[in-house]
Amino acid sequence: MTSVRHYLQFSDLTPDEYHHLFARSQVLKRRQSAGELYRPLVGKVMSMVFEKNSTRTRVSFEAGMAQLGGHAMFLDTKSSQIGRGEPIEDTARVLSRMSDIIMIRTFEQGLVERLAAHSRVPVINGLTNEYHPCQVLADIFTYVERHGSIKGKTVAWIGDGNNVCRTWLQAARLLGFKLKVASPLGYELTALDGHHYGPDVLELTQDPVRAVQEADIVTTDVFTSMGYEAEQIARREAFAGYQVTVALMQHAKPHALFMHCLPAHRGEEVAAEVIDGPQSVVWDEAENRMHVQKALIEFLLLGRSQD
Ligand code: CP
Ligand code: NVA
Repeated sequence: MTSVRHYLQFSDLTPDEYHHLFARSQVLKRRQSAGELYRPLVGKVMSMVFEKNSTRTRVSFEAGMAQLGGHAMFLDTKSSQIGRGEPIEDTARVLSRMSDIIMIRTFEQGLVERLAAHSRVPVINGLTNEYHPCQVLADIFTYVERHGSIKGKTVAWIGDGNNVCRTWLQAARLLGFKLKVASPLGYELTALDGHHYGPDVLELTQDPVRAVQEADIVTTDVFTSMGYEAEQIARREAFAGYQVTVALMQHAKPHALFMHCLPAHRGEEVAAEVIDGPQSVVWDEAENRMHVQKALIEFLLLGRSQD
């Protein structure tokens, strides 16, 4: 069991492994758009467990596995025994005897860690309350494919210090860029991994203008993440003034990219003119989920393939 690699947080891979994944994502993306078949995973099965809703994560994993020659199975809480209280350790033992890799989207990170601890096969985090590593992997690849290395660049996050934001923070430390986060009082980013993030990696402010200054990427997310719906009204009030507008984008670098993991709420966290405007790369981000996850699955199952 010790040799199985999991992808539970962004910090689970090394910078060198990320460089491999970005290069490999580019190869697999080019191959897919040229219509070339690449099917190293014939006969391999992914179990996908969803305890929260999804469009992109489900489709990108399912399409990606099919393209690699494998198969992906969808399980949700309602129709599986997970929703009836079967311990996650038992679910892990059973799923990993019948599938080659497991993807899970759930609430607590601790649950994903317990699943991985009892799995014989690699486990991928498809979003928890704490992290969303596949998203930031796709986002950074989206930057890399346009502009090259993200090292030394500045990323501005506007809004909730949530799972995606916390993943950007791990990525900043690992890949050598700076993260500037503007959040309202009470919604600040907190690190949960015990690392000290110095001022070269992280700057926290309440001022969105200050955060976007010098930014190469401006990114945001919904005011209310899945699982926090009861706070929706309070959040809408607290986040007033934290919309990414055309005026705010003008304080960033002239060709800064706008990113959003989606789904988006136009008129709340982002103005329609920005998300539908020329600096927005949100559709590339969504598509790239599939390409980077194919590279990730290949890496976890087959190692550093050169095929
Ligand atoms: N960005 C993202 O993870 O989208 P879904 O919730 O649709 O999977
Ligand atoms: N922060 C959002 C991301 C959705 C993809 C959530 O957790 O709901």
